[in-house]
Amino acid sequence: MIHQANPLITSGSSFNLNNNAAYIQWRKKKPAYSKPALGDLLVRIKDPYQLSDDEIKAIVERCEYFNMAIYQLSNTNNQDRSLVHVLGKRLALSNLDANLRADNDSVSSLEVRTQAGNQYIPYTNKALSWHTDGYYNQLDKQVFGIIMHCVRPADAGGCNQLFNPEELYIMLRDENANYIEALMHPEAMTIPDNVEAGKVIREAQTGPVFIVKPDGRLHMRFSARKRNIIWRDTAVTHKAVEMINTLLADETNVLKVALQAGQGIVCNNVLHNRSGFTDSDTQKRLMYRARYYDAVG
Ligand SMILES: [Fe+2]
Repeated sequence: MIHQANPLITSGSSFNLNNNAAYIQWRKKKPAYSKPALGDLLVRIKDPYQLSDDEIKAIVERCEYFNMAIYQLSNTNNQDRSLVHVLGKRLALSNLDANLRADNDSVSSLEVRTQAGNQYIPYTNKALSWHTDGYYNQLDKQVFGIIMHCVRPADAGGCNQLFNPEELYIMLRDENANYIEALMHPEAMTIPDNVEAGKVIREAQTGPVFIVKPDGRLHMRFSARKRNIIWRDTAVTHKAVEMINTLLADETNVLKVALQAGQGIVCNNVLHNRSGFTDSDTQKRLMYRARYYDAVG
């Protein structure tokens, strides 16, 4: 019998390591180790302010199956940030996470800017390594849903890679169930205090990598950063993390997306990264990003 601390892992849960039958049944419904193609995820939206029932259904279905969808606005003349709020509400995304660099409406404008204090990489043109959003948040304030809308791509670069955590879970569990046990340990991953000018602005957070959400689905907290992440010091934890990094580095596993103006990602906080980019005088990358405590539904 494997001990699992998360009370949401019921005896019938597919994520219960003592119930292999439930896992195998859930896994059968998943495309075996397959990443979606861009065309599988794409949904055309006529008017983001008046989403049709079919458009909503198409986005929700893709998020059910792949944990992500990519939309394309038919008309890119109006890209006011209010479209993110309206889209979110129609997809059951309403509880916004206000992070340190978000604007007043809790939606972040990701662009290259001068920052006072700590320099956060999302607001530079540097590459961002693999992560899920808000992995440093308190466990009761996890980010379950994200909308990222591309107003303007960069002149060059700034592509995202995406990976469904459910697929990663399957690969890890099929390799060695002990990896999952280690990654579900309540002390698997610690993010130290965030200190700015000698003051703690966010306290250290310790928690599992894989969490079962109240809706019974899987959630992942992860960052591939080498610095500022303290892994539980057991051989199996280190091996599991090594396997995650190897799987993420394999381009055959991941989906590469170069969002164009008027396109956006709606997802249940899937793993993602960003390549470095170059802006020009006339083409400066701008993304609106909203993080929610809700999943797409
Ligand atoms: Fe992110």
